[in-house]
Amino acid sequence: MPFYHKLGNIPHKRHTQFRKEDGSLYSEQLFGTIGFDGMSTNSYHEQRPTQVKKIKKQYSVAPKIAKKNHIQSYRFRGFQVKPENDYLESRKAVLTNSDCTIILSAPKHSTTDYFYKNSDADEMIFIHKGSGKLRTHLGNLDFKYGDYLIIPRGIIYKIDFDTEDNRLFIVESRRPIYTPKRYRNHFGQLLEHSPFCERDIRRPYELETNNESGDFLMKVKKQGDIFDMVYASHPFDVVGYDGYNYPYALSIHDFEPITGRIHQPPPVHQTFETDAFVICSFVPRMYDYHPQSIPAPYNHSNIDSDEVLYYVDGDFMSRNDIDQGHISLHPAGIPHGPHPGTAEKSIGKTKTEELAVMVDTFKPLMVTEEAMKIADEDYHKSWLDH
Ligand SMILES: [Fe+2]
Repeated sequence: MPFYHKLGNIPHKRHTQFRKEDGSLYSEQLFGTIGFDGMSTNSYHEQRPTQVKKIKKQYSVAPKIAKKNHIQSYRFRGFQVKPENDYLESRKAVLTNSDCTIILSAPKHSTTDYFYKNSDADEMIFIHKGSGKLRTHLGNLDFKYGDYLIIPRGIIYKIDFDTEDNRLFIVESRRPIYTPKRYRNHFGQLLEHSPFCERDIRRPYELETNNESGDFLMKVKKQGDIFDMVYASHPFDVVGYDGYNYPYALSIHDFEPITGRIHQPPPVHQTFETDAFVICSFVPRMYDYHPQSIPAPYNHSNIDSDEVLYYVDGDFMSRNDIDQGHISLHPAGIPHGPHPGTAEKSIGKTKTEELAVMVDTFKPLMVTEEAMKIADEDYHKSWLDH
């Protein structure tokens, strides 16, 4: 995605004969997005990637909506989502609209008996707890606490976890997830003012090439349903590929904060963009250094976007009642701001250790039934003086 990458063996020219030692052809696949206009990758497979044996079953994983139209601020206690053995079953959608779905997940076990492919959406998986290896048909990535994993739609993957204690904050995006355009020059290179650069972006480094035939279960997500498909060839059978469409990792700890004499607006924290929402990183940083500055944010009316903040670690200066794994939802249409007393309390502080991920959506988010199980229904009254 962010720049050209090549892994394994590929022929000199695209769409030309590329043969195995036994003289037979490798099977070439162009893997592209937005028709033929978006980023693409050319991969070479031991076997044809088209060998569907059976479509065993189909079931819906579409979020169940509890609050469609609403104007209430919410807090959700994310760590109250119960761990589950299976990765896909552990994914609980909490907020959703037609552009994206925000998911909390606490999987205990690695994916062993199936491959997963989300053909509906790009996935951003933020690793709040846990470490392991993301294994994909385009190579593997190691991950640990603080990593954003960006998995473009259609990438076939498995996840290996090192332990059973894992907490993931996931955004499924029906729009492609990019690094912000204003950070890049005409050629796509990240500019000097970008809070991260190419050195911070980790690309797949290890290709698993299997040439096995048999029954391989792939769970494919499409239109909110999961289809259990059985393929005749091993999905990880790529010998080489090149292009721009591949999964990658970026650590929130490598995001360099931009600070100023007075309070900086949220766009300085921007990490990813789509044309329907943005993802921002709030990281440990020096506070505003004007002698009269108020480090706590001012009240603001995000009149036409919903604001979701996922609290990861540290001290959250604008709130008194926020803990790790909490999510706040500040909906479009009404102002929100610091908790009573926190603006005054912030004066004179020189730095913050807060770590949080923000998702601002341009369309309102609906609250799901899963979210209501962990919701604080009184949060919207928390700006009152007590
Ligand atoms: Fe806000």
